[in-house]
Amino acid sequence: MLTPLKATARLASGALAAGGLAGCAGPQSALDPAGRDAAQIADLFIWMVVGAAVVWLVVIGLAIYATLHRAADGDRKRVRLFIIGGGALFPTVVLTGLLMYGLSLLPDLLTDGSADGPQIEVVGEQWWWRVRYQLPDGRRFELANELWLPVGERVPVTLLTADVIHAFWVPALAGKIDMVPGRINKMALHPTRTGLFRGACAEYCGLSHARMAFHARVVERAEFEAWADLQAAPARAPVDAPGAQLFMSLGCGACHTVRGTEARGMVGPDLTHVGSRVSLGAAVLPNDVEAFRRWLEELDRLKPGVHMPAFRMLPEHERLTLAQWLEGLQ
Ligand code: CUA
Repeated sequence: MLTPLKATARLASGALAAGGLAGCAGPQSALDPAGRDAAQIADLFIWMVVGAAVVWLVVIGLAIYATLHRAADGDRKRVRLFIIGGGALFPTVVLTGLLMYGLSLLPDLLTDGSADGPQIEVVGEQWWWRVRYQLPDGRRFELANELWLPVGERVPVTLLTADVIHAFWVPALAGKIDMVPGRINKMALHPTRTGLFRGACAEYCGLSHARMAFHARVVERAEFEAWADLQAAPARAPVDAPGAQLFMSLGCGACHTVRGTEARGMVGPDLTHVGSRVSLGAAVLPNDVEAFRRWLEELDRLKPGVHMPAFRMLPEHERLTLAQWLEGLQ
């Protein structure tokens, strides 16, 4: 329902857009919400801006008035009214109103996700996101730097960190929450329309803090289930291919898991279906054979400080063979 409050907020956000903020739209904008929580936060932001603008205008207006008019002795009463009304009463009323409005949103924002749907756990790492799913039927799988969500459902997300403080933020879907060592934080994502949205780390966490982004893809229920079936299944690329043999003989499996093969390392991202993801290296590169080849050759330049070494010592054709096999892990 379009309440007068919402209608005014929409009018205000429309005015903002017309005022040159049209660039605030897009897959990583808190002002272009695609989730229930993000929409409430965007409304709150608009009202905060309106409230601040009104307080500022009135106070500046009074200041200008006061410099232009010298109060005569008989004006004492009017002066007191100005000071008490404009200096105390008016800001108190406006700020209390905004505070009450903000507090009234809290119960909704703190609502738990549904226990009947997928359960997601995200672990912040330097500098990527380990993503674990548990499906209602008990199946579990892991991937990296990508979340898929069924539209219209409230999905619980548990947030952990493997090292330092990171902050998980998909501006178009919800607010941000820190991932703090030794703590388990919880939130919920409740997307209201389908699409591909971008998330970022919102807490400085080291050298490549700006290079740990991720994607959240919101799809219809049926598409989500097809995706989850694929993710829960072992790798589909041939395990006896030259690329697979190279992967095993170089010891990549000590850090990476490719389910269905001997590779069971837990240090780096699970690569079982890495070829099906939107991006490589936490949204540093697109996802194609050339990107895998570049990643192997110069990941230390693409993501300074990364734990994985670059494989420049490999002959070019071996990097290409590896790249082709990895891209084939759909
Ligand atoms: Cu992780 Cu900033």
